[in-house]
Amino acid sequence: MFDRTDLEPVTVGTSGLGKRPGADESLAEALLASPFRQLDTSNNYALGRSETLLGEAISAAGGLPAGKVVFSKADQDPRTGVFDGDRVLRSFEESCARLGLETLPLYQLHDPYGLSVSEGMAAGGPVEALLRLRDEGRIGAIGIAAGSHELVEEYIRTDVFDVVLSHNRWTLVDRTAETILRLAAERGMTVFNAAPFGGGILAGSTFRGDSYAYQPASGEFLAHLDKVRALCADWGISVAAAALAFSIREPRIHTTVVGIYSRRRLEELPELVAAEVPDGFWQALDALGEPPASPTD
Ligand SMILES: NC(=O)c1ccc[n+]([C@@H]2O[C@H](COP(=O)([O-])OP(=O)(O)OC[C@H]3O[C@@H](n4cnc5c(N)ncnc54)[C@H](OP(=O)(O)O)[C@@H]3O)[C@@H](O)[C@H]2O)c1
Repeated sequence: MFDRTDLEPVTVGTSGLGKRPGADESLAEALLASPFRQLDTSNNYALGRSETLLGEAISAAGGLPAGKVVFSKADQDPRTGVFDGDRVLRSFEESCARLGLETLPLYQLHDPYGLSVSEGMAAGGPVEALLRLRDEGRIGAIGIAAGSHELVEEYIRTDVFDVVLSHNRWTLVDRTAETILRLAAERGMTVFNAAPFGGGILAGSTFRGDSYAYQPASGEFLAHLDKVRALCADWGISVAAAALAFSIREPRIHTTVVGIYSRRRLEELPELVAAEVPDGFWQALDALGEPPASPTD
């Protein structure tokens, strides 16, 4: 049900699907009809609207088109904040009902910030429930998907996950996921690198303003980013193309999750994926030195 060798280099992220009313129904249909095989969603994206819109598009298409896969994630109870095993089982049933699917190739523990790793791993906790769903064949693979690199590293060290999803921490201007990549490679885990544009700033999007990884960035960080922009201009490469290629070319990363929230961005994506970045650019990027501390540190 989950075969890493089937993974394509780019997965389309849908955390914003359902947040921008108006065009979202047609975007969900376009995502299903697009050449991109993999869609990433979560139980709590847009308060469940992301999964619901994808499910409506799947139903309108007469079922999940052949070859398409939808990856989702378990979230804490939105009202109580409880994130135990029972909640994971409910989250999974909600996800399946919204998507109109009975099984999912990948279901991940999503942003378990309110729990210690021992609580997450305890009997009756969320990870035990994920393992049970995997044993029962309802989930192909289980993953840990979160931002804090220390938390993710600790979950990786439990050796029970097939997949890790890290975000914003392996980009043109951030290498804080280095330990995650090393630990995952040592264990043969599959790595999803999400938010290659740091939430948009590296693609020139003004949607989140001057923030990086959804947080205000320091002057020093923005000055380094300006140097990277100037380097891209010198080489005649768009920053977005360089940012995406930076993630795709890393051998320890199996797929890169790009946030696509409009049909226009979806139409632009194939060209961005295909853009050629000369080898010399990467040497020039290295010559800029280590990126300064980012908001993800
Ligand atoms: N904890 C987790 O599991 C977790 C956390 C973060 C992300 N994720 C996953 O990763 C996905 C990506 O994260 P993200 O959306 O936050 O960050 P991102 O992919 O780094 O950036 C997304 C932004 O890039 C812009 N963009 C996309 N294509 C572009 C293009 N061709 N030219 C210019 N701008 C472009 C979009 O801007 P516009 O708004 O202007 O279109 C969008 O807002 C999410 O949807 C989600 O699936 C998971």
